[in-house]
Amino acid sequence: MIWSGFTGAYRTAAVVPAEQLTPVPVGVSLEQAACIPVAGGTAYSALKQLKVAPADVVLIHAAAGGVGSAAVQIAQALGAGVIGTASEDNQDYLRELGAFPVVYGPGLAERVRAAAEETGPVTAVLDAVGTEESVAATMELLPDRSRAVTTVPDRQSQEAGIAKVRLEDGRVWEAAALAAEGLLTFTISQRFPLIEAAEALEASRTGHVRGKIVLFP
Ligand SMILES: NC(=O)c1ccc[n+]([C@@H]2O[C@H](COP(=O)([O-])OP(=O)(O)OC[C@H]3O[C@@H](n4cnc5c(N)ncnc54)[C@H](OP(=O)(O)O)[C@@H]3O)[C@@H](O)[C@H]2O)c1
Repeated sequence: MIWSGFTGAYRTAAVVPAEQLTPVPVGVSLEQAACIPVAGGTAYSALKQLKVAPADVVLIHAAAGGVGSAAVQIAQALGAGVIGTASEDNQDYLRELGAFPVVYGPGLAERVRAAAEETGPVTAVLDAVGTEESVAATMELLPDRSRAVTTVPDRQSQEAGIAKVRLEDGRVWEAAALAAEGLLTFTISQRFPLIEAAEALEASRTGHVRGKIVLFP
């Protein structure tokens, strides 16, 4: 079973309410299933909130991370095109996921505009990093702020009119169904035994994880 609670997951056994459980889809490994609820569920919720449809081109800030890499795949499953931002090291990774890759850093909005000449103009934005730069680029590229959502809500995103992601009921089921169809898979960049949870957190805090880190019992 996949448990979709947010805290208290660092343990080998737990008693949780049945309604918080989602079956692991047939053909999906336990470590892939472990990545589904937070990263997959959040990405699914954000794209549903944006009402992403086939005519869209979605700009995803931090597209190589857990939420971002899931969003790249789910947006395409919904029929949309994707421009994703990442460092130079992750440009090929984004290309493999099917996104048009753009390097973040000074000149970001210009580079996204150049990418949009290939993909079509950006019609929606998911910000999974919430930097001054990503917020500024969203403001510059997306006049209709009702089509922007962030997983990192703060004062600057609020002032920019970027909505905070609302987690949808049923998001874990939907993300699990996409995983079952082979439309959502996670790159697991590192695995740590539970006893090394602190090291896993340190690795996560670098802010440069590709895909997900998995803890195993
Ligand atoms: N509200 C919610 O329900 C919810 C749920 C899940 C997550 N979140 C939040 O959403 C954020 C993303 O979560 P996550 O799990 O996807 O994080 P993550 O996996 O740790 O994100 C790491 C990724 O961020 C990229 N990155 C770092 N600096 C960047 C920059 N300046 N511009 C663009 N990309 C950059 C890195 O790419 P490079 O290595 O290429 O730099 C890396 O691939 C976190 O702040 C998290 O707390 C909120």
